[in-house]
Amino acid sequence: MADNATAPRTVPFLGRLGRHHRVPVHALEEAGAEAGGRVIRLDMGPFRPYLVTHPDHVEHVLTVRQPNYVRAGMFWDPLAPLLGESILSDGENWADSRRILQPLFTARHVNAMAENMARIMDELIETTVVPGRPFDVTEGMGALVHPVIVRLFFGAKISMADIDRLAPAYDVAVTAKALRLVLPFVPHQVPLPGDRAFRRAIRTIDEVVYPCIARARHEEGDDVISRLVRARADDGGDRRIRDDLVAMHGASTETTSTAMSWVWPTLQAHPEIAAKVYEEVDRVVGDEPVGIAHLPHLRYLKMFVSELLRVYPPGWLLPRRTVEADVVGGVGVEAGSTVILSPYLTHRLPEFWDRPATFDPGRFAPGGDARRHRYAYWPFAAGPHVCLGQHLFALKAPLLIAGILRRYRPHVHLDRPIVPRLASTLRPPHGLTMTLEKR
Ligand code: HEM
Repeated sequence: MADNATAPRTVPFLGRLGRHHRVPVHALEEAGAEAGGRVIRLDMGPFRPYLVTHPDHVEHVLTVRQPNYVRAGMFWDPLAPLLGESILSDGENWADSRRILQPLFTARHVNAMAENMARIMDELIETTVVPGRPFDVTEGMGALVHPVIVRLFFGAKISMADIDRLAPAYDVAVTAKALRLVLPFVPHQVPLPGDRAFRRAIRTIDEVVYPCIARARHEEGDDVISRLVRARADDGGDRRIRDDLVAMHGASTETTSTAMSWVWPTLQAHPEIAAKVYEEVDRVVGDEPVGIAHLPHLRYLKMFVSELLRVYPPGWLLPRRTVEADVVGGVGVEAGSTVILSPYLTHRLPEFWDRPATFDPGRFAPGGDARRHRYAYWPFAAGPHVCLGQHLFALKAPLLIAGILRRYRPHVHLDRPIVPRLASTLRPPHGLTMTLEKR
């Protein structure tokens, strides 16, 4: 350990997980509150990850010393068969993918796709929503988010039938590993529930994606798959293209539909906030199809979405593995250990957030950013691995919410408190249903 470093405080965590087995997120919340912004170690028996929450320390790990904190170990290793050598890996493979993909997701490029996206979204809402019929909130949002992203990525190179096969396979792939996420020290040779479903889901994904790559080799296009095929004409082969497509697909659909699932229970829980959102959508959009021209005027909706990502950041847990020993916030961190970052916890630190438990879009009123630590709010991560999809999400979320609200009023069927569920993203509970009533 470096001379200037102190040993971290270790807090018992397995017992906490047991006590909160229904809502493991609460175990983490408790530990975060106990840490009070200091780097601590979570004692899970043989596995003792460091927990980093303070914005200065987040900056250190994600930006200042980023190459020392790689995507490996907890969470990443179990998902490796899904994500392969892609934009969601690290080191040279990651840098290579980032160089190819980044230009496709700049604000300029995304704006150019936006009108098309608005049209597809409006048609989907029109054709998929059955007024008055209850549906599962997460599935319903997936059904609106997933086809739009798939069309942007694959253009016309994928059939509707294949789109319908991809969505459930993805859902299984990211939720089946929930147990390994909380039991990361169980060796891979020891089967856990969910492992078989995970392998089956990967087979389905491969059966859909590889033929699309083959088609893209023979057809022109401006979609993500065509660009990947052109960029990797001479290197890497189909496997690397498949890895990037699968990683991009996972990074975009799951996070976006999870975020959209929180919209409805949150509006219902805060009628005064909902009234402001409804008033704004009525005033700005009226009964026209929502288009890009409306977006700059949906100011309160934008603030609402920012607050939604503060309270329910879909990418709630970012684990990294240290390459070399380091000192974070005065605490010595050993080489090869797991460091867990969580925007969910940073977004609740009372030192940086007034009334952190209160849902208040007003915090994101224009000018508010200037008073905040840059790393107090990071739903899209930060540093070299910062989310590529921020601009896409900033357009897509209001298009979807306003597109629904101009036609319908949501009613969520609540029979218990809404608490997050454990998956690789922060999801609403299983079986939460809602209806959309015609206005
Ligand atoms: C609410 C929506 C979204 C949230 C909260 C979100 C959040 C995040 C977070 C936290 C990371 C960092 C993960 C890590 O380093 O461990 C990330 C990375 C990434 N996101 Fe998003 N994301 C969202 C939507 C999207 C969309 C729509 C796309 C589609 C383009 C996308 C593409 C990516 C990619 C490619 C990366 C990896 C970047 C890299 O490592 O270089 N995301 N996202």
